Amino acid sequence: MPTIVILLLAITLMISQGIPISGPEIFKQNKCSVCHSIDGKGNTKGQLDGVGNKYDQDELRQWLRDPISMAEKTKADRKPPMKPFELPEDQETSLVNYLSSLRK
Ligand code: HEC
Repeated sequence: MPTIVILLLAITLMISQGIPISGPEIFKQNKCSVCHSIDGKGNTKGQLDGVGNKYDQDELRQWLRDPISMAEKTKADRKPPMKPFELPEDQETSLVNYLSSLRK
């Protein structure tokens, strides 16, 4: 196979492996700010500033995967309720790390 083809394959592979997306970017892409705000940006009825003090990483992950049972547990009754987010694991982890870094 000519070298150029191998090179192109390698580049395609690198791109498809994905340059990791940052937590704030994932937050934006999933439109979390329709219901939540960080630093005053977004829907201030659902402020997430300080959420890293409130929950550990497992609980934050749980909010993304199963918000219905987390809302029950914390007696959150704001409407509309949060729906589950099924993110690829690396994105979920970046987002959880980001949320966890929001401390007051
Ligand atoms: C349709 C509205 C809606 C969307 C979209 C939404 N949420 Fe929520 N979320 C809620 C509601 C309602 C609660 C319950 C607590 C409250 O009243 O803020 C909640 C709670 C949370 C909590 C716990 C907050 C606390 O103080 O107890 C976290 C963390 C959270 N959401 C993160 C996210 C992230 C990250 C996204 C985007 C991936 C997202 N949410 C998208 C409505 C939403």
